[in-house]
Amino acid sequence: MEFYEMLMESKSYLEEHTSYRPELGMILGSGLGNIGELLEEKQIINYADIPHFPKGNVAGHKGNFLFGKLKGKQVCIMQGRFHYFEGLSMKEITYPIYVMKQLGIKNLIVTNACGCINTNFKVGDLMLIEDFVSLVSVNPLIGANDDRLGPRFPDMSQPFSFSFMDLAKKCAYANNISFREGVYAFFQGPYYETRAEIRAIRTLGADAVGMSTVPETIVANYLGMKVLGIACLTNMATGLRVGNHSHEEVLQIANQSSEKLSTWLLHIIEEL
Ligand code: 6GU
Repeated sequence: MEFYEMLMESKSYLEEHTSYRPELGMILGSGLGNIGELLEEKQIINYADIPHFPKGNVAGHKGNFLFGKLKGKQVCIMQGRFHYFEGLSMKEITYPIYVMKQLGIKNLIVTNACGCINTNFKVGDLMLIEDFVSLVSVNPLIGANDDRLGPRFPDMSQPFSFSFMDLAKKCAYANNISFREGVYAFFQGPYYETRAEIRAIRTLGADAVGMSTVPETIVANYLGMKVLGIACLTNMATGLRVGNHSHEEVLQIANQSSEKLSTWLLHIIEEL
């Protein structure tokens, strides 16, 4: 079946199973699910029930679309995302973004838990993602282009919308929420980088490194959506820390920052 037809079937299923028609979508990273619990008049749709949705699973990740209201505004939340390291294709991991666009979503907030490379930043800090570097040689737009979806050669000069970032900063200043700003490097994983890889990535100008966010951001830009990215720095990267990495640590630190992230996001949503 043609990709576009698959999208139409996914869209129809979702429109039949939720009464919401949100313009804002959000992706919640590992351990950053707090705002999903604040959602009012919630409707839950499991990814597994949506026609053509990919099948994947990682510890610490749920697989649901949540629809509901935050600050009186309709939102669609992805509780859990797909990753390239799961063995899915780039097209599969970004499928939900294509679907969100079909549902009418114009603004997308992406969050993640990631490793920190900038030694001026601290574990637990939230970082506004101002740009990305992809260290993965493939991306979701490779292949024949469907002009109904987006342009063959999309612009990527504002992968994270400047106006959306300005709004986030304004909300942070007004509410005394501390944050960092930096560049996110996308590493495919699933292993945590070597020391030499981190030195290399630092030289490339990255402040943080993680295994998600970039494929979704590329597709959202392609589809004409505005993206805001916020990363939670859960641990110093390899060679910049004592001891080994563990997913439990990532989840624990993300959980600790989750409430602060929710507070920030609620102020942003209120102003959107
Ligand atoms: Cl150190 N690296 C990557 N790629 N992802 C992470 C991480 C590090 N820490 C949390 N997520």
